[in-house]
Amino acid sequence: MYAAFSAARLARSRGFWTTCYGPQRNQSTLARLPSHYTLPSGDKIPSVALGVWQAGKGEVGSAVKTALEAGYRHIDGAWIYRNEAEVGQALKESTVPRKDLWLTSKLWNNYHAPEDIEPILDQSLSMLGTDYLDLYLIHWPIAFKKEGNNILDKDLTADPYPTWKKLEELVDKGKIRNIGISNFNVRRIQNLTANPLKYQPAVNQVELNFWNPQPELLKWSKENGLLLEAYSPLGSNKQVGETLSVPEVKDVACKLGLTPAQVIISWHVQRGTIVLPKSVTPSRIVENYDVFEIPKEDFEKLEAAATSHKPQRVVNPSAGWKLPFDVFDGE
Ligand SMILES: NC(=O)c1ccc[n+]([C@@H]2O[C@H](COP(=O)([O-])OP(=O)(O)OC[C@H]3O[C@@H](n4cnc5c(N)ncnc54)[C@H](OP(=O)(O)O)[C@@H]3O)[C@@H](O)[C@H]2O)c1
Repeated sequence: MYAAFSAARLARSRGFWTTCYGPQRNQSTLARLPSHYTLPSGDKIPSVALGVWQAGKGEVGSAVKTALEAGYRHIDGAWIYRNEAEVGQALKESTVPRKDLWLTSKLWNNYHAPEDIEPILDQSLSMLGTDYLDLYLIHWPIAFKKEGNNILDKDLTADPYPTWKKLEELVDKGKIRNIGISNFNVRRIQNLTANPLKYQPAVNQVELNFWNPQPELLKWSKENGLLLEAYSPLGSNKQVGETLSVPEVKDVACKLGLTPAQVIISWHVQRGTIVLPKSVTPSRIVENYDVFEIPKEDFEKLEAAATSHKPQRVVNPSAGWKLPFDVFDGE
């Protein structure tokens, strides 16, 4: 059924052709991009995931089911998204074996104290209906006290090693297969990895999109063997419209017979990152899974356009959390 949602049909139904000119190159002539990356553990992580932040009650379950039918095997979730039970129910109702799925969840800021980690991880495991996660990330490099409203735990924020050691223990216990970080800048990564780690961070999940492409962080991460995951890859709900209207993106889409969203998602994978587009709209979920290699000159055109303006973040909770510093400071 979902094969019917070919990108070409989507484009035609949306009237893209009316804005394109010249003969359309058939996308079947484009090469496929890598479907997986290999982590230090040897595990293979699918390069495109369904993100489920802001996927609401009553819609996230059907989004997961549509994604699995379309071929996705990687779901990027988090305890704080408050939808793990519905994700778990959808997984239970699917016929995809657990071994073929990649499930990521994230440790929320209030639970960084070593004694609080396993109970909150167990909650995620139980809601997702599984006895292990493929990947568990420290969601933010910010620790709050367990109780109270965003009261900073200065010690665990300054030194995440006790948190990391507990996560390593949970890997050894079999409850997590890979551990990683999210929203860490280079200074914070080095602060963590200066310790005698048993397991290096498998990935760093950060904001990467047309408005905030972070070429320096990407370069540093490649040089240091740390895989990046691109969150808010389309610019999140606030900026997705602008992203898909960028002239260079539309031009490349027209030329290749892809949709603008496919161009952006392909660009991320071609940059060497995992990409986590979120959608609860069936046709978009299907559309977003089809990634293709963009010819070099078009890829370079996109890269130049993305990196030639002042970077602008979509996600920065520092002020909302009343932090006395910017969480991304020092990048
Ligand atoms: N680690 C972190 O701190 C962190 C922070 C932010 C995000 N994330 C992860 O990254 C994932 C993605 O980020 P995000 O949700 O902020 O933003 P995003 O994926 O960049 O954008 C999502 C928005 O784009 C729309 N959209 C999706 N595909 C589209 C298409 N083909 N055409 C037009 N519109 C489309 C969605 O609408 P509909 O849903 O209505 O279709 C939604 O409004 C999250 O779900 C989460 O898993 C992690």
